[in-house]
Amino acid sequence: MGGYSNEYAISLKTGSVVYKHLDSEKYSPYKVHIFKDKWVCVTTVGKEFPIDKNDFSVTIDDIKITFDCVFNAIHGTPGEDGYIQGYLALLGIPQTSCGMYQAALTFNKRDLLSALKPYGIKCATSYYLNVGDKIDEKAIVAKVGLPCFVKANKAGSSFGISKVYKLEELQNAVAVALKEDDEVIIESFLDGVEVSVGVINFKGKITVLPITEIVSDNDFFDYEAKYLGKSQEITPARISTEMAEKVSKIAKNIYKILKMEGFSRSEFIFKDDEPHLLEVNTVPGMTEESILPQQAKAARISLPELFGNAVELALA
Ligand code: DAL
Ligand code: MG
Repeated sequence: MGGYSNEYAISLKTGSVVYKHLDSEKYSPYKVHIFKDKWVCVTTVGKEFPIDKNDFSVTIDDIKITFDCVFNAIHGTPGEDGYIQGYLALLGIPQTSCGMYQAALTFNKRDLLSALKPYGIKCATSYYLNVGDKIDEKAIVAKVGLPCFVKANKAGSSFGISKVYKLEELQNAVAVALKEDDEVIIESFLDGVEVSVGVINFKGKITVLPITEIVSDNDFFDYEAKYLGKSQEITPARISTEMAEKVSKIAKNIYKILKMEGFSRSEFIFKDDEPHLLEVNTVPGMTEESILPQQAKAARISLPELFGNAVELALA
């Protein structure tokens, strides 16, 4: 848990929930904090011991501890973008999230949406910028219209996202996005019901969890709406059976197309009854406020079962 991005605080909450709910009769979990300036194992009394990056081991009171499995609870970089996956794969240590390539691809909204387009998966009209590119407001608005969403291309928890109503707000919104990432994706506003679809491998079967409808009190599902109670998350979503089936099929298909493993939670907005994909999260939040645990609960899967299943699949 932890990480190098602004999502580190959410990750620490996710990690603590996972730690708390892993079946203590089956597993002996350790908390490992990964920050830019330190990788440490934190004991129950809060003492920190450095992780040996050569083999991801830790020596506590002269006893060397190696790990059979890593429960990846890092949102954002380096946990959700492929780095941890690649590092642990090289060391031969199983981990609970998807593979390196899947993580790198899904964490890049631009590349994910382009990769899925040939499969008929719809998304908003978008305009891309790299750091240093000229911001041609007129060209942007001509393509995506107003209002539009300006997003950091590789980020999570709504960091770096703004809804822009006026041409004059674009420069500032791009600057906000560039604080999180060196790439920006600007998308047309999709006016419709927003849903979140959890797909997991549960006991060897690709399983779509009950769908969550997101109703934000704020202008969109921003950080405050996500984590500070400014939204309603309704599971199961109040959508027709037909709509639920359609979006479930697409989310499951994405899981299969990308050869995903472990957790995934995809976000869609229905426009003219057609689900439009916003993004796929491969290390979804497991905090008390997060969506996937609510979906698991609605599917009568307890947290120890959900987390234990992820460990068992990683070890299989
Ligand atoms: N990026 C946050 C943690 C989520 O998807 O739940
Ligand atoms: Mg996200």
